Amino acid sequence: MKVPFARPSCTGNELAYVREVIESGWLTTGPKVAEFETRFAASVGAAHALAVNSCTAALHLACEAAGVGPGSRVVVPTLTFTATAEVVRYLGGEVILADVDPGTGLLTNETLGQTLERERDIDVVIPVHFAGRAARMRGDTDDPGLLDLCDSRGLRVIEDAAHAFPTSYECQAEGRVGNLDETISCFSFYANKTMTTGEGGMLVTNDSKVAERVRRMRLHGIDRDAWNRFTTDSATWEYDVIAAGYKYNMPDIAAAIGLAQLEQAEEFRSRRQAIVEQYLDRLSGTPGIRLPEVSDSIDDHSWHLFVVMIEDDSPRDRNAFIEDLAERGVGTSVHYKPLHRMSCWSAPKDVTADRYPGAECWWRGCLSLPLFPSMSQAELDHVCDSVISVAAQRPVVSTTS
Ligand SMILES: Cc1ncc(COP(=O)(O)O)c(C=O)c1O
Repeated sequence: MKVPFARPSCTGNELAYVREVIESGWLTTGPKVAEFETRFAASVGAAHALAVNSCTAALHLACEAAGVGPGSRVVVPTLTFTATAEVVRYLGGEVILADVDPGTGLLTNETLGQTLERERDIDVVIPVHFAGRAARMRGDTDDPGLLDLCDSRGLRVIEDAAHAFPTSYECQAEGRVGNLDETISCFSFYANKTMTTGEGGMLVTNDSKVAERVRRMRLHGIDRDAWNRFTTDSATWEYDVIAAGYKYNMPDIAAAIGLAQLEQAEEFRSRRQAIVEQYLDRLSGTPGIRLPEVSDSIDDHSWHLFVVMIEDDSPRDRNAFIEDLAERGVGTSVHYKPLHRMSCWSAPKDVTADRYPGAECWWRGCLSLPLFPSMSQAELDHVCDSVISVAAQRPVVSTTS
């Protein structure tokens, strides 16, 4: 049996809504995008949602709206996808990598605090809600959260929520990721994410000035988009360009898929959680494997990823595990090789591995198992049996490092 690492579920109204768009004759950004934005904003409790063609685009626009430019210094956790950092570089800013907690892979007050101690003149912090679990944004006076720390130092916060729809913050009063007043949040609808538009993203904010800037900058800096010009009675050709913007708008075809996915988002999340509960149950006690820490409320988590740790004293290391699982037809992935290990991000001389003990510990052992809503019981059984049988094998020394 073969079990892929991820498989998109397009089991709802995707085809019907795409058909509607095609038959309407309006394929680019138009009424379906507007409807998708309204519904997405309502689902996270935000005032504004702006659809774009990737989360990378959303992060870029968020940084631009937050004023990142030459001379800006932006903290990014080293355990993330390169997109979180590259957008800062696009704008001429400097990326400052921070360590993460070795148990959760998240930026914490402790790891951010260490970075702020070491580095001067930070402007912006981009926490990543890794794997679908929210970083701790708010705390109390004894144990403040990331946002408390950033607020006290006057730092802007942009949330990389690529993995985090629908995720709730640990503190119930904060609600869903995307609804905080102080931040801009960026979601991904890439094909393997918790909901997809093929490629796509959403920027969410409660700040109307940020929303206005992003609305212009996502489409060349033009003050009226094509749908707006097409549907008003005044002269349809007339527009102004207020800045050199980007071509990041989402087309209606993608939004049609997004609307259908949004209708199923709760169902997808519960199905992912049910699979996780089986993994936790079936794999508990497997020698050499540590299961992910689950916060008090398992249903706050979007469960984009299920990452197990192959322990340092396991007879088979992480890379040997991947090879053995591949031989049994089980697709896996690694989230992530930290940015400080990538040549693009390790270029400054002081970016060395010993500065990031938490991420190093995570990276040595992390292994993401298949997790997608349409996973059948037979597929789940096969993954669990394969993991257990690989863990029981005799030691092997892997050839890769
Ligand atoms: C943490 C994180 N941030 C940003 C992105 C970029 O998302 P997109 O592919 O939608 O641009 C990804 C994509 O995998 C991601 O995992």
